[in-house]
Amino acid sequence: MKRMKQLLVVLMILALGMAFWGCGNKDKDDQTSGKDVSSSEDGDLIVVGFSQVGAESDWRTANTKSFQSTFVEDAGYKLLFDDAQQKQENQIKAVRNFIQQDVDYIVIAPVVETGWETVLGEAKEAGIPVIIVDRMIDVSDDSLFTCWVGSNFKQEGYDAADWLAEYLDKEGRSDETINIVTLQGTIGSSAQIGRTEGVEERLNDHPNWVMLDRQTGEFTQSKGQEVMESFLKSYDGIDVVIAENDNMAFGAIDAIKAAGKVPGKDIIIISFDAVKAAFESMIAGDMNVSVECNPLHGPRVSEIIQKLEKGEKVDKLQYVEEGVYPAETAAELIDSRQY
Ligand code: AHR
Repeated sequence: MKRMKQLLVVLMILALGMAFWGCGNKDKDDQTSGKDVSSSEDGDLIVVGFSQVGAESDWRTANTKSFQSTFVEDAGYKLLFDDAQQKQENQIKAVRNFIQQDVDYIVIAPVVETGWETVLGEAKEAGIPVIIVDRMIDVSDDSLFTCWVGSNFKQEGYDAADWLAEYLDKEGRSDETINIVTLQGTIGSSAQIGRTEGVEERLNDHPNWVMLDRQTGEFTQSKGQEVMESFLKSYDGIDVVIAENDNMAFGAIDAIKAAGKVPGKDIIIISFDAVKAAFESMIAGDMNVSVECNPLHGPRVSEIIQKLEKGEKVDKLQYVEEGVYPAETAAELIDSRQY
């Protein structure tokens, strides 16, 4: 009898174990489709992990707001937002975290282009689609990401240089020696690479344009000001500053004023982004032109996700249309600017 009781206990334990193992196994099978059905807390919400570069500029703030106002519960989303503070290592940690949480989609605005293979391989292995926004990544296997949406940064560089050529022509200065300095963005980011390369290519068409120096201002106003102060100490007769974003241009303008020169007149200021504060700066006469870089990617990424949810195909590379805004247009357009 005692042996019979023992056998019954063993059988019950085995049955419980089988039931438990069955549940666990079902979860695992479902996870291969990229959905974490075990967390009922999020209900039917699509969980999106977004690794953002940082908060270095007005452009970035507008970009973050665009995501935070698009990926809301009312629209069927739960957004997990991570600010990488301009460090790729933080982005890699964030992506690993998203994989661990078994999110439905991973969105990355990459700080720099290289160094993504390993972590994106892990996302692929976990079956989580990855959407790249804003800057691009440089990987040999393009199956590591689903698609990219962002700016044509090289075209922005061409646009800036073409505006300068036209402006100098109008001012009757086409044949003068023109001394230029560049405040570059984060070295290795697509925005820096593309804008620098675009301008560089155009320099070949203008042998009288002299690039005196290029240094990074990390896309921030304070570093832009610091680098401009050192340029002003090192070089006499700077004619043009190319700031690879508006915030560095604002810093450069402060440095130029502190040195007793007039930005926009003594020194031509060319910038990128075309944020609202740049329009104010142009109206004040401090900045000459801003080449647009559009940050409103939230709705674009949502559209991509909705298509993927329906099993539809999406274009691998999606470029955003952008304009060039010289100072003469600023007063008329400022009220229509969304960021
Ligand atoms: O990648 C886009 C660039 O990053 C914007 O020009 C700049 O303002 C931002 O920090």
